[in-house]
Amino acid sequence: MNGTVRIIALMNQKGGVGKTTTTVNLGAALAEAGRRVLLIDLDPQAHLTLHVGVDPTAQRHSVYDLLMDADLAADGIVTRVGERLDVIGAEVDLAGAEQELHDAADRQAVLKRKIGSVAERYDFVLIDCPPSLGLLTMNALVAANEVIVPMQAHFLALQGLSKLLETVQLVRQHMNTSLKVTGVVLCAHEGFTKLAGEVVADLQNFFDAARKFAMPWSGAKIFQPPVRKNIKLAECPSFGQTIFQYEPNCAGAVDYQALAQAVIGESMPNPQATREEHAPQAGLQINVEAAPEQSASESSAQHEQAGESHA
Ligand SMILES: Nc1ncnc2c1ncn2[C@@H]1O[C@H](COP(=O)(O)OP(=O)(O)O)[C@@H](O)[C@H]1O
Ligand SMILES: [Mg+2]
Repeated sequence: MNGTVRIIALMNQKGGVGKTTTTVNLGAALAEAGRRVLLIDLDPQAHLTLHVGVDPTAQRHSVYDLLMDADLAADGIVTRVGERLDVIGAEVDLAGAEQELHDAADRQAVLKRKIGSVAERYDFVLIDCPPSLGLLTMNALVAANEVIVPMQAHFLALQGLSKLLETVQLVRQHMNTSLKVTGVVLCAHEGFTKLAGEVVADLQNFFDAARKFAMPWSGAKIFQPPVRKNIKLAECPSFGQTIFQYEPNCAGAVDYQALAQAVIGESMPNPQATREEHAPQAGLQINVEAAPEQSASESSAQHEQAGESHA
């Protein structure tokens, strides 16, 4: 694979929707498909780091050090976790990074500056965002050229999406003019339910309505097929394994392989062009108020709930 690296932020300010599961297993599937992949764990919970079998407390340096230490370069802190698959891990201290970053002059662009040269060695850099729209997520959006939104088609699934898209739009207007939303990945999907069908239809209508305007999500799609609910996907993190190491023939592995092919098939360009930039607001069709950001405890409670429901 030649050409420009695709830097993708996996973003959703809700917890427990499948961000980490998707970052790890999409990354592993892309690596299996011959692409060179770097995973970056930006979540202070360090779930991605654990999921790929790296002990957050045993790393010499984490992404936290990278963001804080002006002298530390990204290439010194990359850990190989599989063939063509590398990671820059988090540690639990990353929680403090948000606060400390506020003092940096280019506080929203530190990650971009730090991973610039190292990113060029990869075909894909996937950034696992924390469940908030805070400064760490802003760093991901400034460093990235694409956003993928993992989501579960539940009640209130679309709540928060308008706020998410507004944030992407702001970053595109002010800091990163090429940023675009590539699409939504439906996670732990139970396509046979009426509710899931309705949520997906609403989402599809929203994206369809945006096509004629030049919004960052004008080219967004709902990736097909969805990632089905699969217990193996919920089990493999505790073994520090990707789904391809843990159970390479299960439905979860098949679905993430299909997702990787769909992502590879996306060509990069170019939401800019000639269309009108100030058209529909993010919330119009989705018709929800911008939800307040979740607190950490809410999101981790939700996370546990999601985990339990698959046990
Ligand atoms: N397709 C799936 N099938 C079953 N369980 C899943 C699936 N995707 C995610 N999970 C589980 O749901 C929970 C939340 O997923 P996670 O990726 O950690 O979400 P987030 O990173 O958005 O908080 C985890 O326990 C995870 O193992
Ligand atoms: Mg996560």
